[in-house]
Amino acid sequence: MALNLNKTELRISAGFIRQFPTDPMPQIAFSGRSNVGKSSLINTLLSRKSLARVSSAPGKTITINFYDIDKKLFLVDLPGYGFARRPLQDKEKWSALTDGYFTKNPNLDLLKLVVQLVDSRIGVTEDDRMMLDYMSAAGLPFVVVMTKTDKLNKTERNKNLPEIQNHPSVRGAIATIPFSSHNGEGKDELWREILTASGLTGKN
Ligand code: GTP
Ligand code: MG
Repeated sequence: MALNLNKTELRISAGFIRQFPTDPMPQIAFSGRSNVGKSSLINTLLSRKSLARVSSAPGKTITINFYDIDKKLFLVDLPGYGFARRPLQDKEKWSALTDGYFTKNPNLDLLKLVVQLVDSRIGVTEDDRMMLDYMSAAGLPFVVVMTKTDKLNKTERNKNLPEIQNHPSVRGAIATIPFSSHNGEGKDELWREILTASGLTGKN
């Protein structure tokens, strides 16, 4: 691994576009509906228990969290979407910040890959489809991670995973990766995609 994962810190929880870091480091963004397992996935990647906050009540503050990994890479935790009971002003804040990251971000060229999380039990939701179609239209490279595979039995796994992989909005993905924060499935494969996209392979 080209990165020292012990040198990880939350650089900033940004509530406004002007707070986005400007360091010339590649960025990998994580996108998905609220409760899909985004914070757990980031903790699993970093072998941490609680760097990214895992929530029992979905939602709370709407920020984009930038994790600085060894001064070489930013993991960018985008705010979760699709939480129906959220007040309208939360949705507006979500849109302003997330749209801002993708369309008003002066450092968008540093974004090398979007990791789109889809709950393997639920499949591609309408909100997921919109995010995926947005990334395809914008020409952003993305991988699809199918989360919480430990919750599927064999029959569900054989049905749900191909259904997600064959979804029209998923076909443009660089890879589709079954993932579990509980048993580590998919962790190495996702790291490979991240390092390749960031141009960090082969270095020590
Ligand atoms: P928000 O920050 O609220 O948008 O949620 P999130 O997408 O960051 O999800 P989070 O990681 O907080 O996980 C939500 C819930 O799902 C928690 O109760 C986790 O323990 C659970 N969870 C996350 N990943 C997995 C997984 O791989 N397997 C199982 N069984 N549960 C998981
Ligand atoms: Mg979270």
